[in-house]
Amino acid sequence: MASHNRQLSRLRVHPLAGSFQVLTLALTLGLGAAAAHADDALPKLPNKTPLKVGFAQTESNNPWRLAETKSFKDVAAKCGWQLVMTDANSSNSKQVSDIQSMIAQHVDLLVFPPREEKPLAPVVLQAKKAGIPVILVDRDVDQSVAKAGRDYITFIGSDFIDQGHRAADWLVKATSGKAKIIELEGTTGASAANDRKKGFDEVIAKNPGMQIIASQSGDFARDKGRQVMETLLQAHPDVTAVYAHNDEMALGAIAAIKAAGKQPGKDIQIVTIDGTKGGMDAIAAGELGASVQSSPFFGALACDVAQRYAKGEKIPTWVKVSDRFYDKSNVQQSMQYGY
Ligand code: AHR
Repeated sequence: MASHNRQLSRLRVHPLAGSFQVLTLALTLGLGAAAAHADDALPKLPNKTPLKVGFAQTESNNPWRLAETKSFKDVAAKCGWQLVMTDANSSNSKQVSDIQSMIAQHVDLLVFPPREEKPLAPVVLQAKKAGIPVILVDRDVDQSVAKAGRDYITFIGSDFIDQGHRAADWLVKATSGKAKIIELEGTTGASAANDRKKGFDEVIAKNPGMQIIASQSGDFARDKGRQVMETLLQAHPDVTAVYAHNDEMALGAIAAIKAAGKQPGKDIQIVTIDGTKGGMDAIAAGELGASVQSSPFFGALACDVAQRYAKGEKIPTWVKVSDRFYDKSNVQQSMQYGY
């Protein structure tokens, strides 16, 4: 898993002089990437305004992504950022080429949510080699390829494993420890999906009355979540609970459950992650049981980290975001946090 075994304060901000020559020499000599980036320092961030900042979004197909993008647009002027923005339309290769084009344009800073852990890790090293500092937000990359504090400044994001724990804890209580669960996974290979699955499955494994009867990706999308749920409902009519890795898939599952003539929230308990306005409305309507919030508001945090980094402050390798939790007991009074 990407981020969770990491020491929280590995960052050493060294003066840069000579480090890229060392990197280039090492690569020229045919040493592996790991050897090349073992000891060299992170690129510096120029202390200037405006700062040209590349933000490479993964996709814009759900309220969570839109809220994340908006948080960067909202903070740009205040932070003195001139934003260069792209949208990878759910394609790893497009996100890689979007970032490579930002590197070619010599942006001062790169900020992005890596769609998947492995395919997006090498481009972090390419940015470092080009002398461009990187802040990862929301999702992380494969730490065996690119490491926070060594190859990029930091990862700003939630504890996805803990989100999975919290969702499972709620479900154990709501079902008195007895359930046949369908799990709708997020994008295969994304740190959010890997870790949300890990956290949830860990808790379920300790509860003998709880059984995951099917687990399949719905790619974090409402339509895909609905389609997968339709198929799985036919194969597993005995299902009594659903864990969806995000609200959009849960809303898709609710549509499929209703279409199958069952009542979400009664015949089938549903727990999810995100805390979108749509998810909160479904809790208020009694169709969704609970949603663990996953905050998409990284713009102001990234601005703060960048400014502190430019001043030479030590940045922890993981800037952990804490998340709320919504169920019927608090959803009405929490509506202002929905997005
Ligand atoms: O990485 C965060 C996840 O990605 C959010 O839960 C989801 O809605 C988004 O697409």
